[in-house]
Amino acid sequence: MKNDFYKFYNKTIDERIDILKNNNFINDTNEINLDKKIANNMIENYVLNYQLPLGLAMNFIIDDERYIVPMAIEEPSVIAAASNGAKIVGNIKTKIERKYGIGQIVLTNLPDINNAFNGLMNNKDLILEKSKEVCQSMIKRGGGPKEIWIKKFENEDFLTLYISIDTCDAMGANTINTVLEHISKYVEEIANAKSILNIISNYNSKSIVKAQVNIPLDKLSNKKSEAIEIAKKIELATKYANLDIYRCATHNKGIMNGIDAVALATGNDWRAIESSAHSYASKDGKYQALTTWLYDGEKEVLNGEIEIPMPVATVGGTISVHPIGKWALSVLKNPDAKRLACIIAAVGLVQNFSALKALVTDGIQKGHMSLHAKTIAIQAGAKSDEINPVVMELAKLKKYSITDAKEILHKIRGEK
Ligand code: MEV
Repeated sequence: MKNDFYKFYNKTIDERIDILKNNNFINDTNEINLDKKIANNMIENYVLNYQLPLGLAMNFIIDDERYIVPMAIEEPSVIAAASNGAKIVGNIKTKIERKYGIGQIVLTNLPDINNAFNGLMNNKDLILEKSKEVCQSMIKRGGGPKEIWIKKFENEDFLTLYISIDTCDAMGANTINTVLEHISKYVEEIANAKSILNIISNYNSKSIVKAQVNIPLDKLSNKKSEAIEIAKKIELATKYANLDIYRCATHNKGIMNGIDAVALATGNDWRAIESSAHSYASKDGKYQALTTWLYDGEKEVLNGEIEIPMPVATVGGTISVHPIGKWALSVLKNPDAKRLACIIAAVGLVQNFSALKALVTDGIQKGHMSLHAKTIAIQAGAKSDEINPVVMELAKLKKYSITDAKEILHKIRGEK
């Protein structure tokens, strides 16, 4: 990659598009929009497109490969923080073993829960074979049903059959729900009970991604003592998050800032990802941070890791019809779903690092408000050529209210 991307944020929009084109990240420079005719077929009662800004996070190296990461988000500082963080953390190593979806059939009204449990346990292989009848195309692509397990809810009248399915590059919600409805009658017969729910689970315990960084002290600050202090404070901030749900929710929200933005840009179901992430954060019965940060004083590095479910897709559903989703995937060099999962987890880790670093040093508002100033200038009525002078003046005064912006505008315009 040429160094055209240096100070990308200082380029005009047209220059940025040209750089992407010249570096083979995109083919053409035509504006891409979601066609009304397509959108009208995506949802009920469609009237218009809701738009969000889509920007690119720079400096990502994931498993030794460079990435430019598309992010759709309205929060001003998220992309800047991701780009800065990525520059500091260096290579991000990722790991994903499998990306299976999970579905469940919940049975109740059980005359004999133990009999039902034993019946299902003895017929697991048969049920698995039956489930394959309705996902032949997924099996041809190398995926399909993998495993069945049963859980008794002790002292409650519930017995659940779970099935995991390798949905390949698709999200596979429809396949999973179809499989569940297909095998449900059979499961009911074996258990001599009725199912009340046949549905995908968003607790994606079999789609776990790990991403990990080792940050040398000199990347945190030129002054060694200051770098050690930052590293220790980042470790402490994470330790605290694990003690206090008020902080932990915010800690994880910062992670999701990055994750949701890439999910949205690539046409993925960010609600599923959110639900999955927060349930995984509570998997041990207590809501915990999705990242760990530990300072290794001997090696003088700050080690960070994220472990998170990532139920994403690169084909099917919205992804196959949304032109911007397809465009975003092409900017990422058309990864398969596992690769995309790794990229998104890496972004979450970096986003968390940037937030924590800002919090334990300058505080979050310094970077945030200087970027938010553009929105304030627009709210105050600044036209495009007036935005920058207003932003510069707000930064100089360190005041970021709309009233201040209006006063500055009056002065610039020479109004009384
Ligand atoms: C803001 O959107 C996200 C942060 O609050 C995250 C955090 O506090 O870790 C900055």
